[in-house]
Amino acid sequence: MKLRAITVGTFATALIFGVIAIAIASSTPKVQEPSDTAAYYKSKCVMCHGKKAEKKFDTTLSDEQLVEIVLKGKKAEKPPHMPGYAEKGVTADQAKAFVAHMKQLKATP
Ligand code: HEC
Repeated sequence: MKLRAITVGTFATALIFGVIAIAIASSTPKVQEPSDTAAYYKSKCVMCHGKKAEKKFDTTLSDEQLVEIVLKGKKAEKPPHMPGYAEKGVTADQAKAFVAHMKQLKATP
């Protein structure tokens, strides 16, 4: 009888710790990798460019110019300026993906 109580107790404790561990793991923000375009955009770019890439995104520039700006940055007339992301580990292909992602965001109402 006592043994059964201990077994049930151990099982319940393990279950509680499991639930807590899952809760902590899912609430801690993950470090965003530039390869995860949408998540990285949300965590690093959205504060300046907006959810729909509606801010500071001049689509009359060519794709090459846009990619270049993502990689090297751009001085705006007044701060905040566009940071260069090449030095943060963003590759040319990833920069292309950001530009495509931003165009898509801007195009979807
Ligand atoms: C601190 C604010 C800030 C952050 C963060 C930021 N940008 Fe910018 N971005 C700017 C500014 C300012 C410009 C230049 C706008 C201008 O010419 O006045 C710009 C320009 C651009 C352009 C060229 C379009 C244009 O109109 O010049 C692209 C593309 C771009 N950003 C993509 C990104 C991406 C992708 C990220 C995230 C990886 C990002 N930006 C993060 C502020 C920011």
